[in-house]
Amino acid sequence: MSRILRRCHSTLGFVFDIDGVLLKGQNAIPQARETLTTLQTKKVPFILLTNGGGVLESARCDFISQKLQLAQPLLTRQLVQSHTPLRTLSSKHRRVLVVGGPGDRARGVAQEYGFQEVLRPIDLIKANPSIWPFHKYTTHEVDEWGLDPELSRVAVGGTNEPIDSILVFNDPRDMGSDIQIVLDLLNSENGLLGTRRTKSTSVPAVPIIFSNNDLLWATDFKLPRFGQGAFKIMVQALYQQTNNGSPLQSLTLGKPYKVCYDYAHHVLIDYRNSLLSGDFNRPPYMPQLNSSPAKTPFDKVFMVGDNPESDILGGNNYHWDTILVRTGVYKDGDFEQDSKLARPTFGTFDNVRDGVFAALEKYA
Ligand code: G3P
Ligand code: MG
Repeated sequence: MSRILRRCHSTLGFVFDIDGVLLKGQNAIPQARETLTTLQTKKVPFILLTNGGGVLESARCDFISQKLQLAQPLLTRQLVQSHTPLRTLSSKHRRVLVVGGPGDRARGVAQEYGFQEVLRPIDLIKANPSIWPFHKYTTHEVDEWGLDPELSRVAVGGTNEPIDSILVFNDPRDMGSDIQIVLDLLNSENGLLGTRRTKSTSVPAVPIIFSNNDLLWATDFKLPRFGQGAFKIMVQALYQQTNNGSPLQSLTLGKPYKVCYDYAHHVLIDYRNSLLSGDFNRPPYMPQLNSSPAKTPFDKVFMVGDNPESDILGGNNYHWDTILVRTGVYKDGDFEQDSKLARPTFGTFDNVRDGVFAALEKYA
């Protein structure tokens, strides 16, 4: 161990997935604390890159730091959530419907990103109670979380203004009403709720951006759970069904896509610069969407993940090294079942500590 710690340097970087690597549901994975603490102690740059989200980056950092009992809490500038890059679009989309995430917290996230008018499906339910008669929101939740109709201006038959775009921030909590409302808008006349355009086309009435494509993700249940990618498949299927077979045109961010890794690469470089300068108070660099760093100061970056279809595939395509762990979605035998699955360049390990320490042993 002492040799590992002595030779850490800043041309080596790590990018950690969260669910299935550091956390399992609400619980810390045992080896995560020692791993991150070791990197912090020797100032090896690392960030977290998750397809999760739905809350403020600061809140997520606080939660993870507390769960992992980190003596040195994670900094907001070390976290990229699935929707973090959407911050770059706040000047282009004025009146947005933000879907998914716990309670009403995603509204605050979108507002912090600078979106001028942020609506939630519950606002549309509050203004039009019959829009989906089976929703599971309580009266208290509709009262507390839903905007009053004179503020949201989405009452069909009342004050009703078009919605510009749909941003899926995280996994839906009331899937039925989210599906109905999203399809209403995709098939509307220019985003006006309660209208139905006549033509069938691949181009939706309003653009929709999914913040990740995860069909499955690891929780503390024995088997992986459906993620936002499953919701996307449902939306796509119903759109095709209601548009004479035309496939839905949409944009998807998150791992494994290059747009996500470019954004994370900028964040990792910026965090390394803070480590070197000791200045963590200057505002973090805000990358633009689809901008690749002109050059990198890293000799090696390791992407550490549990999902071959997001973490490993994305890391490999980005020409980073990749470490796969057995504490999440991936299970031994998966590669034999599906030979097309992306394989880790550095290896498969029982847990995050074993993988990171093997990498430090070899490259630090
Ligand atoms: O919603 C969380 C899930 O999509 C996966 O998160 O941290 O494994 O990328 P993560
Ligand atoms: Mg994961």
